[in-house]
This record gives sequence, structure tokens and C-alpha cells, in this order.
Amino acid sequence: MRIAFFDTHTFDRTAFEQCNSSLGNPHEITYIEARLTADTAAAAKGYPAICVFVNDRVTSDVIGALAEHGLRIIALRSAGFNHVDLPSCKKHGITVVRVPAYSPYAVAEHALCLLLALNRKIHRAYLRVRELNFSLEGLVGFDIHGKTVGILGTGKIGEAFARIMRGFGCRILAYDITPDERLIAENVVEYCTLSDLYREADIISLHVPLTDTTRHIIDERALSLMKKGVVLINTGRGGLIDTKAMIAALKKGTIGGAGLDVYEEEEGIFFFDLSDKGLQDDTLARLLTFPNVLITAHQAFLTHEALHEIARTTIQNVSLFERGEPLQNQICC
Ligand code: NAI
Repeated sequence: MRIAFFDTHTFDRTAFEQCNSSLGNPHEITYIEARLTADTAAAAKGYPAICVFVNDRVTSDVIGALAEHGLRIIALRSAGFNHVDLPSCKKHGITVVRVPAYSPYAVAEHALCLLLALNRKIHRAYLRVRELNFSLEGLVGFDIHGKTVGILGTGKIGEAFARIMRGFGCRILAYDITPDERLIAENVVEYCTLSDLYREADIISLHVPLTDTTRHIIDERALSLMKKGVVLINTGRGGLIDTKAMIAALKKGTIGGAGLDVYEEEEGIFFFDLSDKGLQDDTLARLLTFPNVLITAHQAFLTHEALHEIARTTIQNVSLFERGEPLQNQICC
């Protein structure tokens, strides 16, 4: 099938080329560097398939325009689908498939990286030592062993993170609309209310999807309930946190630190080199001024294993669709 592949980076092109060729090149993929937006959608005119990532704009106008030109399937290279207008896909009879799980370990391990680096101030120590500043002033962290970790969302990634943190000797408090009996039976997590989690956790990590219910789940009220000095880790979606409320808490010093792989206005910023352009987003610019905020640009998924699995599942999703066989990872039509 002919696939227009948006928001292409070297790493995903390499993974997709390897995977497609190992299967005898079943698909003809056109790699487009630009993100999918109303302005770039024309590049996919006449393609029956498009392949998109988290910061592509799969809005109703884009879907409508491409549907008119023969679009039949949208293959998401992500698990999350909050960026896709599903009612509009349904209206135009466009199938949407995703990659529900590629490597929960990739994301959970990145959450751990953010936590460890932030707590032991590795980002600051690295820069100091390079300037021959071997002072330890201001670099005191805390033992993670014995601390209480609060996890919002104990799906695939939340579970992987919970098991890692159990290995560190932490107590895990969890909140999920569907508690996992297996994790209780195996003594991995204790479920509790959100308020109890906020009150007791020394570290809080977010692993729920972004939905109308979870948008700004970390707001001013939630932040006011948290323990002073709590470390907040977000590898879920930027919209889970009300960034302005978090900045206010950082200014007051009620939060000990924030490790963020996602940001609510990341679209158009993350994945791009803006080093010679400057930053137009004042909120992100403010966040970057805090020494106790560590930001990565949505890279938690970025391991060889995860990229391979994303490519394999996406190619399989499109092949099944093309052959008219039952789809396993369909979220629309
Ligand atoms: P999952 O579907 O396995 O788990 C999500 C969990 O959240 C489920 O247990 C569900 O019951 C729970 N949940 C849903 N709505 C809730 C609510 N309102 N309140 C409490 N719990 C709720 O998803 P998975 O694979 O663990 O991924 C979680 C999220 O991580 C994704 O939705 C995505 O946004 C994000 N993600 C981020 C990546 C990155 O590179 N930074 C990569 C992959 C995923």
C-alpha cells in the first residue's frame, strides 16, 4: 500500500526501512519531514494510507480534505490517540490503527532516568565538572530506598515503573479507575484514593492517558495536597499537568522537582532543533529556568527495541487492512 509518512526522523525511517525490506517491501512508503497539519496535508493527496506520530494534527479539516482524496487508513505510530479526531474519522469511514504496546520498559526506564538524574542533580553535576567546578554545594539528593512512590495509572507502563521502584525498596501507592488485582495479589502496589496518594507520596509518576477526565489532573488543588518536596515525573502527556499551577508551586518551593518528558504545548517545539531560532513559548522558557526541573523532548519511547516494535506493528496493521483481514489494533471503524 502507498503510505505517506509524516514527521519523519532518521531514527524512525531507519526502523521502518529495515522492517519493510525484511518483509519484502509490501508497502511503498514516502517519508515526509513535515508534521501533518492543514498546510502540509496536500502532500498526502491520493495516498490511501498515512502514518503519523503524536504531534501530527489529525484534525477534522485535515481528515475531511484527505478523505476526499482517497484516504482509507490512518496508522498511528503511537499508543496514545488524544491527537486524533476519531468522530471525524468515523464520519468519513477512515480506519484508525495504533501501536497499543511497544515497550513499556522504554518509557518506565526513562521515568526512572528522570527521577534519578533530578534527585542526584546529575544534569547540574555534569555541567559543573565539564567546567572544572568540582564543588558539591547544592547537589544533595535523597535515598530512594524506603520512599513512597505514587503512581497514577497502573496499565502497562505504570506496572513496569511500579515493579522497578519495588526493586529500589519503595512502597507503591497507586490510583487507577480499574485497579489490577494481580498487582495487589503480588504485593506490587496498594491502591488508594487520589487524595491519599497526594498526601503520602514522596515521588509521583504519571502513567494515565490524556482524556477529558485526566486533563489537568495535576492542578492547583492536587499540588496543594502534595507533600512538601515531592518529586513529580511526567512521561504520560503534557496535558495531565496544569503547567502554570506547577510553575507557581515550583516558585513557592512546595515541589522538590519535576522531571518532564512531555509538555502541554510541546507540539511544534519538541522534535525540532530551535537552537538558532529561540523559544516563543514563555511558559516553557520559565520552566527551563528552574534548576530542579529536568525536561526531555518526548523521548521516553526512544529505544531500539521500541522503534523496532513500532515499525513491525504498524507495517502489520497496514498489511492486515490491505488484505481485508481482522485488525487487532483498530480504534476506529
Ligand atoms: P495503558 O492503557 O496500558 O494504561 C493506562 C492506565 O490508565 C490503565 O490502567 C487505565 O485503567 C488507567 N486510566 C485511564 N483513565 C484513567 C483515569 N481517568 N483515572 C485513573 N486511571 C485511568 O497505557 P500505557 O501503555 O501504560 O501508556 C500510558 C500513557 O503513557 C499513554 O496513554 C501515553 O499517553 C503515554 N506514553 C508516553 C510515551 C512517551 O514517549 N513519553 C510513550 C508511550 C506512552
